[in-house]
Amino acid sequence: MATPLRDMPVVISHCGLRAIDPEGGKLVSAKQICISENIMTQKTALVTGAARGIGLATTHLFVEQGWRVAMVDRDGDELANVAKGINEASPFVCDVSQADQVDQMVADVRTTFGRIDAVVNNAGVADFGPIEETDFARWRRVMETNLDGVFLVSQACIPSLRETRGALLNIASISGLRASTLRVAYGTSKAAVIHLTKQQAAELGEYGIRANCVCPGPVRTKLAMAVHTQEIIDAYHDAIPLNRYGTENEIAEVITFLCSDKASYVTGQIVASDGGFDSTGVGLPALRT
Ligand SMILES: NC(=O)c1ccc[n+]([C@@H]2O[C@H](COP(=O)([O-])OP(=O)(O)OC[C@H]3O[C@@H](n4cnc5c(N)ncnc54)[C@H](O)[C@@H]3O)[C@@H](O)[C@H]2O)c1
Repeated sequence: MATPLRDMPVVISHCGLRAIDPEGGKLVSAKQICISENIMTQKTALVTGAARGIGLATTHLFVEQGWRVAMVDRDGDELANVAKGINEASPFVCDVSQADQVDQMVADVRTTFGRIDAVVNNAGVADFGPIEETDFARWRRVMETNLDGVFLVSQACIPSLRETRGALLNIASISGLRASTLRVAYGTSKAAVIHLTKQQAAELGEYGIRANCVCPGPVRTKLAMAVHTQEIIDAYHDAIPLNRYGTENEIAEVITFLCSDKASYVTGQIVASDGGFDSTGVGLPALRT
């Protein structure tokens, strides 16, 4: 393995500060040293489901805040397409529900970026249907991404997060906080993610790893629009004190805050970014003036 720049002896030559690469005896310039040092210290976030929606908005916001991002998604075409335009990000094609793919992906991210400071478990699928029509295959399809994926990616990243005393951030949903019709698989998977977050916080805190969970309210992404009829949209507007859907960026702001050092004493928390939906009881629309 090549000697890291920071371990090379430094000399002042006739052309300024230089490091000597013991492998090849080559002189390396101060500018190269600075660039390499920056790469070694710049924080890296791994974001799953990054090809679109909330994951893509989160990628953009991390980059704006000076992070590099490993963009993970199983939709290789869409991922390659969006990642092209983002300088500080690299795409990694991976189905988070497949343990072997997850292990390979995390190894590849380590090779590319050298470190992982935050993991955003955002990849998710929605499938709404009545309990009696949810056969086991349908149930498993939801669970394997929404729950198994969070478990697998988090577990594979623990050694890296121990090194950086980094953060896990899991995306659940208001459907994991409050039960509703048609969400036996989706809502149950998200409730499990909420509890998994608390387990992670309890067990990994001693390594300095924080684990938090964001529960978005409705956002007009491809996932939501595939399952929200006009009736559902109207019902949400009525039940949300802020009286509107959220935006991808509003969710991303909460995610990046919880991953940042600004939240260094926050762990095991479930934060709803939902326009007030979770905190509100029945009867609100009737009580509006
Ligand atoms: N949009 C909403 O209203 C809403 C509300 C609450 C929670 N959420 C949650 O937010 C997260 C992001 O949702 P979104 O609305 O941005 O959805 P989206 O469909 O726009 O994006 C999800 C991305 O995840 C990827 N993905 C799905 N399964 C995967 C797998 N097994 N492996 C790798 N990638 C996979 C998809 O290819 C897609 O790019 C999900 O966990 C979702 O449950 C969304």
